[in-house]
Amino acid sequence: MKQKIDILESKLAESKLGGGIARIASQHKKGKLTARERIEVLLDENSFEEIGALVTHRTKDFGMEDQVFYGDGVVTGYGSVDGRLIYVYSQDFTVFGGSLSETHAEKICKIMDMAMKNGAPIIGLNDSGGARIQEGVRSLGGYADIFYRNVRASGLIPQISAIMGPCAGGAVYSPAITDFIMMVENSSYMFVTGPNVVKTVTNEEVSSEELGGASTHATKSGVTHFTSPNDYACIQNIKKLISYIPQNCEDSPAKLPYELKDETRPALDTILPENANQPYDMREVISEVFDAESFMEVHKDYAENIVVGFARLGGRSIGIVANQPISLAGVLDIDSSKKAARFTRFCDCFNIPLCVLVDVPGFLPGTDQEWHGIITNGAKLLYALSEATVPRVTVITRKAYGGAYDVMNSKHIGADLNFAWPGAEIAVMGAKGASEIIFKKEISEAENPEQKLIKKEHEYAEKFATPFQAAERGFIDEVILPSQTRTKLIKAFTMLENKVDHLPKKKHGNIPL
Ligand code: COA
Repeated sequence: MKQKIDILESKLAESKLGGGIARIASQHKKGKLTARERIEVLLDENSFEEIGALVTHRTKDFGMEDQVFYGDGVVTGYGSVDGRLIYVYSQDFTVFGGSLSETHAEKICKIMDMAMKNGAPIIGLNDSGGARIQEGVRSLGGYADIFYRNVRASGLIPQISAIMGPCAGGAVYSPAITDFIMMVENSSYMFVTGPNVVKTVTNEEVSSEELGGASTHATKSGVTHFTSPNDYACIQNIKKLISYIPQNCEDSPAKLPYELKDETRPALDTILPENANQPYDMREVISEVFDAESFMEVHKDYAENIVVGFARLGGRSIGIVANQPISLAGVLDIDSSKKAARFTRFCDCFNIPLCVLVDVPGFLPGTDQEWHGIITNGAKLLYALSEATVPRVTVITRKAYGGAYDVMNSKHIGADLNFAWPGAEIAVMGAKGASEIIFKKEISEAENPEQKLIKKEHEYAEKFATPFQAAERGFIDEVILPSQTRTKLIKAFTMLENKVDHLPKKKHGNIPL
């Protein structure tokens, strides 16, 4: 037995070394952690149980029979984060550049299947040169096996992808299907075709970083939801994100202990500028209303005219969707609609109640928006919110104009409770535009058209640019003091805790993609 144990120990020790000491040193030199070190940072101490440490590839071509590494370039298994079961795979760049072989893919699929069966999140730590070139179509098949499972798992268990090195070609489509992508600045990149192919096909000269680095995807494409300065910070972000979300679609997010006290926030009574055309930072409203320091913003640098993210309210995890007046006056456009729709869908999948803060002057006008499909894309948010069955509460802080009023979680599309602050303006359009249309004749015939327009504008604003017409119809449940917002929301979400709402039975809806 002693001899057999020695053999096992030697194989496991070899497996732990991945591609060997020199390649580990080269990984460290790039400022990156190894696959195993990443798992160590992610999981609770001593909680990791590895599965498939002795798996090897089966390729004989191109001298591969002489190059066999236990584990075959990916470390897979399960463990816990803050005591909660988590499945993880971590690609090992020291073994064939973390490239994906048939067996590497099989290992990932095995734990994805386990995660789905046992209802726990799966986290993929990606660091790979793509398909194992020596294996040809076998590795492409492996990717498709993973994509297929990503889709099966979507909405069933949370899926998080961290990109901590290269992720190119077909490899990008697994993270793309998962719920959240995190990228490490300056050491990760994602693209479908790299700079060389781009140069050949389009004659564009572009670096990897510019084409698909963390900051490109955080600001231009919106592919990544979070970026971090290094591997360690990225993994801490994953842990924080997990704290807001449940294990699976039948579970609810953990509620932290919280004792209610006086929840009045007087600062909110003076948070809006005197002039309704002046911007203010909606994040300041969020930080007053929600539990201190609890806001985790998602997609922070993309489509900044809408703010989305998780926060706690009286200890409860809440998804926030909020117009942002400091960017494009908070209008809805293509990117902000897509961003908010995707976030809404995630929250609804995983039983995270939604709080929608509204200050929206309407949809962004222009040929660019129309020709790129603001109609279809705006409809995504309308669809996502209409279909969400989680508790949904709206607060209109200032403007709610036109179709954007309907879209932003109005009563009409199924919101549970709709509040408005006393200065809210809920109308078809702004008073000036409205008066120019409906009093056109009267104004043009007036002795002083300019003065007439101002008079009519005041009349219109007094009648329609208030929350009271909407409150009279019951479209607004209560006009509240801003300082009472936190109290009202805590009570509302407590009241809605056991909400049950089902969609009509069907195969699935057809969201305007
Ligand atoms: N298949 C097989 N082996 C691969 C591989 C792949 N797709 N990608 C990288 N490797 C191997 C390299 O041969 C090298 O092996 P070695 O250590 O025995 O020399 C090792 O992984 C590290 O790669 P290297 O090129 O030295 O690292 P780098 O940091 O300089 O570059 C990449 C990383 C990913 C940019 C580069 O390896 C690359 O372009 N790989 C191919 C990407 C690709 O086209 N994939 C297929 C399409 S999906």
